Parts: sequence; C-alpha cells; structure tokens
Amino acid sequence: MDLLAPPTLGSDRPQRLRQSPAVRRLVRETRLDPAAFVLPLFVRGGEGVRDEIASMPGVFQLSVDEAVREATEAARFGVGGVLLFGIPARKDAEGSTASDDAEAVQRAVRAIKEEVPGIAVITDVCLCEYTDHGHCGFIDSHGGLDLEGSLPQHVAAAVSHARAGADLVAPSSMIDGVVGAIREGLDAAGFGHVGIFSYAVKYASAFYGPFRDAAESAPVFGDRRTHQMDPANAREALREAALDVEQGADLLMVKPAVAYLDVVRQVKDAFPDRPLGAYHVSGEYAMLKAAAGRGWIDERRAVLETLTSLRRAGADILITYYALEAARWLAEGGERGPSRPS
Ligand code: PBG
Repeated sequence: MDLLAPPTLGSDRPQRLRQSPAVRRLVRETRLDPAAFVLPLFVRGGEGVRDEIASMPGVFQLSVDEAVREATEAARFGVGGVLLFGIPARKDAEGSTASDDAEAVQRAVRAIKEEVPGIAVITDVCLCEYTDHGHCGFIDSHGGLDLEGSLPQHVAAAVSHARAGADLVAPSSMIDGVVGAIREGLDAAGFGHVGIFSYAVKYASAFYGPFRDAAESAPVFGDRRTHQMDPANAREALREAALDVEQGADLLMVKPAVAYLDVVRQVKDAFPDRPLGAYHVSGEYAMLKAAAGRGWIDERRAVLETLTSLRRAGADILITYYALEAARWLAEGGERGPSRPS
C-alpha cells in the first residue's frame, strides 16, 4: 500500500450540501418560526411604567398599557403568545391578590385580548409573586411549606385568569395535584374550554436568579428544593409528565431549557401527542446578554443557534425573553440579516 498516494474520497460526501447558502437553507432540518415563540411579560400597576430589570437588560416591569404595547409589537412580528407574570400591589401570607380580578395580570389579560386578539394569552399560575414570604404556597404552623393547603388559592387564581379571558393557564408551582385541581376548578366554573400549559418538569435551578428580581419573588427563607425537581433526575421527569397528562395537562413544559435538552427529547418521545414547551429561563437569557454586551459572542447567531437547538431537541414551543428580538431578526433574514452575504 502506497502511504503517500492521495486518499480516495468516498462518494458519500455530506459537504456537497453545505456549499452555498441557498442549498444549506434548502436542506435545513429545523426551522424557527416566531409563531412558536412565547414572550414572557412582567406586569404591574401604574401607567407608562417601563422599568428595566438590572440583571435582564432589555426586559422590563411594565404597566398594563405598556404590556399591551409590547404585545402589539410582538404580534406584529408574528410572535405566537405572551406569558404573563404579575407584580401585585400588595402581598400577604396567603397570596390573596393572586385571585383578585382587579390585579395587574387580570387587567393585562383583558386589555391584550381586546387590543391584540391575534396573540395567545397565557398566564403563570403560582403564588410566589403574591406571598410576602416568597414561597409558592402557604407556610404551615411549624414554618414548613403547606403546598397542598394552597391548592384552592391556585385554583382561584386560575379561574380569575380564565374569567379575564386567558387562553391558557400555566401552573408553575410544581405542587403535586395542582393540574388536576385546576382542571376541576376551571370546568366547574364554566371554563372547560381553557387549556392547561403545565410546567410539568421544572427543576430547582440556579438559572432562575434574575427572574426573582424581575418578579420580586425570591423566597425570604429556605428554597424550592422540596417541590421543584432535582437537576440530577431525568427518569423522574417522565413520571412528572405522566402525572400531569393524567390530570389533564393539554401542553407540557420543561424548564430550564439549555441545560436540559436531554429531558426535552425524552419528554417529547414519551408524549408525542402533547405540544411541548421549553422555557429558556432568565439566567439563560442573562448569560447570553452579558457575554454579548462584552462583545464576547455574536448575540444574534448565538441566540438563533440556541433556539434552533431547543426545537431540534423536540420542543414545539419556545418560551424566551428573546422572543421579540429573535422574531425581528428572523424578519430581517435570520442570522446575518438581509444585506450581508453569508
Ligand atoms: C414561579 C416561576 C419561576 C419562573 C417561572 N415561574 C420562578 C421560580 O420557580 O422560582 C422562572 C422563570 C425564569 O427564570 O425565567 N412563578
């Protein structure tokens, strides 16, 4: 054998399909469509309020009028939905304002449904933004969490969101039985047509840090490890998803996203008939923003690559603070924009 002879290339050469932008585009397996994006919004009282969150540049606490404006812009670029979080005027131990029809979230739902009918309105159902101790449920007499005890207040919040006109409610507190309780409560209140987008697989993650600034929902003591999942567990994710499907979840979610792509794939394969969302969370957003702000990464490419990865892993719906920006970039022609050669 002549070791110096040039090697013969096999006839199967994948590079052929990478030779031009046109062919690369043609054979692309995974495409991003803003219709599958959901933009989270933080709403509060007042008017004309647009307070930027320090750890999430480009994300704001918005008064209802500003939230409508943001939703209008999102709809203009084809974004499929908004996910609303509320910062209430008043907090107490039971999170009673979570079910107040006059609170910011309920008012924002009504206003967006009326003024931006083309966008799906989803509400986060949890008590942590509404309790003065920052936990997702009640505290019992021993100072422990009485999560189940707070189920009726979760149901009341979900029903109040439905009454305001929410298309979907998204229970995020990871309390056993919350999906079934909300399904029953919605049906009993005449909202059988309102769907449940369950945060079925939600990990106790360090990546929620910036969100807790945004939603003013950091627990004043303790943490959420007794109800949110251990990051080490994937088999348990399938059990969580199965329980929520049994209880009536119409859509499932895995959260966070990037560090859990294996879980996204496994949940999609196990429940192919349920639309699956991946929540690209606050810390994941903050990391990209921080690196991009220092010029260490190309933000547009890094973000579109990240979102593409979530779709490739099996997510149907992408919940991301980049939803509007990414939709704008896609409208401009994707990664490189219209005018630059790729
Ligand atoms: C709970 C909730 C949280 C997030 C969404 N819903 C915070 C938590 O569980 O502590 C986090 C979202 C993010 O980090 O972007 N209401």
